[in-house]
Amino acid sequence: MSEAIPLWSASSVAASPPEPLDSWMPRIMERTERALERCLPGVEAVPATLHEAMRYATLGGGKRLRALLCHAAGELVDADPAVLDGAASAIEMIHAYSLVHDDLPAMDNDLLRRGQPTVHVRYGEAVAILVGDGLQAQAFVVIGSLAAPAAQRVSLLQELAHASSSLGLVGGQAIDLASVGVALPREELERMHRMKTGALLRAAVFMGAHCGSTPLDTGLRLALDEYQRSVGLAFQVVDDVLDVTTDAATLGKTPGKDAQDHKPTYVSLLGLDASRALAEQLCERARAAVAPLGARAAHLDALADMVVHRVR
Ligand code: IPE
Ligand code: IPE
Ligand code: MG
Ligand code: MG
Ligand code: MG
Repeated sequence: MSEAIPLWSASSVAASPPEPLDSWMPRIMERTERALERCLPGVEAVPATLHEAMRYATLGGGKRLRALLCHAAGELVDADPAVLDGAASAIEMIHAYSLVHDDLPAMDNDLLRRGQPTVHVRYGEAVAILVGDGLQAQAFVVIGSLAAPAAQRVSLLQELAHASSSLGLVGGQAIDLASVGVALPREELERMHRMKTGALLRAAVFMGAHCGSTPLDTGLRLALDEYQRSVGLAFQVVDDVLDVTTDAATLGKTPGKDAQDHKPTYVSLLGLDASRALAEQLCERARAAVAPLGARAAHLDALADMVVHRVR
């Protein structure tokens, strides 16, 4: 789905990661795709249409940013790549569910997602609701079944459940829906963005770090916390910008929806130039947070750059 379109301009890629980004990124995206194929029930399982629609919602599209963040953080702690695959797949399933529900007529009422008809357009609204429910539960099944120590699985479950909860993604979505036509003050807009989008990006970073065999030391925890806060907010600021500046063919979703639906966004609050400048500042803050970790954080550094300089 729209895979021919580059994710960001080549000039913005950070220098010299241990495995060059242009081989690391497609490799991780490909193994994430394979892991998701294994983690999702097959269409031979009853009910076939529901499972087909869950696979439609999840496979063959998306930038896989959350999976990439999970793997990049896992590299810092020499995590087992197979465990990272499971954690990354679970996060991508929660993300895919959130997109299916976000697109529903009762929410953003979107027709296009990842360059394809949205799940409710293709399969009907009731199936789309159940696809979200099924993907959310399956994410936790996958983590519970990982070949990892029980304590590690519990910390992964807690991280993902908290991010998905009413204190994270779902709460942020509720604020978003309650804010239609409202000019939110800046601190409330920031809180909404941190909840609806930042919480799952935080989980991606910390779940990767929890996949290591030893507990996180304080220095690493603080560096990752500063990194995820900056990247998490930058991601949604850029999403707000792209809604205004990018065409449907590139974006894979209908542009101009935020203004049309009277959503408070960074663009409506600050304007385009100040939103772009804020995203650049957050990118620099994220990169500075992981700079002391040296070359082993090169992929995290490059992903911060990608979040801000992507074109979709
Ligand atoms: C879109 O997320 C929804 C938001 C949280 C803003 P992405 O832009 O990461 O969507 P995909 O996975 O690449 O389609
Ligand atoms: C959605 O934010 C965040 C989610 C939790 C899915 P948006 O509504 O801005 O996401 P898009 O622009 O439809 O992808
Ligand atoms: Mg929305
Ligand atoms: Mg939306
Ligand atoms: Mg958006």
